[in-house]
Parts: sequence; C-alpha cells; structure tokens
Amino acid sequence: MTNQELIKIAKEAMAHAYVPYSKFKVGAALLTRDGKVFTGCNVENASFGATNCAERTAIFKAISEGERDFVKLAVVSHTDAFTYPCGICRQVIAELLPEATLIFSHKDETQELTLNDILPYQFDSNLLND
Ligand code: THU
Repeated sequence: MTNQELIKIAKEAMAHAYVPYSKFKVGAALLTRDGKVFTGCNVENASFGATNCAERTAIFKAISEGERDFVKLAVVSHTDAFTYPCGICRQVIAELLPEATLIFSHKDETQELTLNDILPYQFDSNLLND
C-alpha cells in the first residue's frame, strides 16, 4: 500500500472524530506487515484526561485484534499543518511499533519520519526485564 493510499484512509477515519471540546479532528491509519489497515480517530471526553488520540485508537484496535507487526502509521488532522503525535502516543509507538515508518501529511505535502526522529532517547521497556 502506498503512503498516499494510507493517508487517504486516515483522512476518511478523521471524519469520525468525536471532538466536542477541542474541535480538533485527527485521523490515523496503521498498516500491518500482512496488509491489513486499522483506522483511528480521536475520541474526547468531558473528563479531558480520558481522551484517546487517533494514533492510540488505531494502535489499540490493532493490538486488541491480535496484530503485532506494523509497517506504517499515517496521521492527519483537519488543519493546514503537519500534526505530530503527542508525548503519550510517542511512548506507545516506541513500545508497539518502533520500526514503523511514520507518515504525516497536510495539503499536498507528505513527510516520512522514524520514531527516533520524533522521540530520541526514549524509555526502553526492555529495561523492565533486566
Ligand atoms: N490529538 C490526537 O488525536 N493526536 C495527536 O497527534 C495530537 C492530539 C487529539 C487529542 C485531542 O482530542 C485533540 O487532538 C486536541 O489535543
């Protein structure tokens, strides 16, 4: 699947965003190695801390369906700017899809980054087993 195809799916997922508080719509699409796509949008809550970002919605959907091997994550928002994952999502990506290509898009521009680009010196969950 091309980056553009994955971005298009992320944009479609963004339409489902539940954002009565921020009005900030985000969509994500996560591609597994065997070609499945899991989508996500942000889901807000009046108790703001209960809000789930689009990235984590997609990742948790995939993990809960038994997926473990991911190759690409596309993230878009309705704004005219690249939208990068929040700190919590970066840490979740570090644990569950550290090797995936992270794809960001706005207007006609696309950017490919790695986890190390957006979260250098990340906390390594393997330390817990030492
Ligand atoms: N949000 C995401 O869904 N993903 C991001 O990468 C950044 C922030 C959401 C959380 C909240 O619903 C809204 O955007 C404003 O922070």
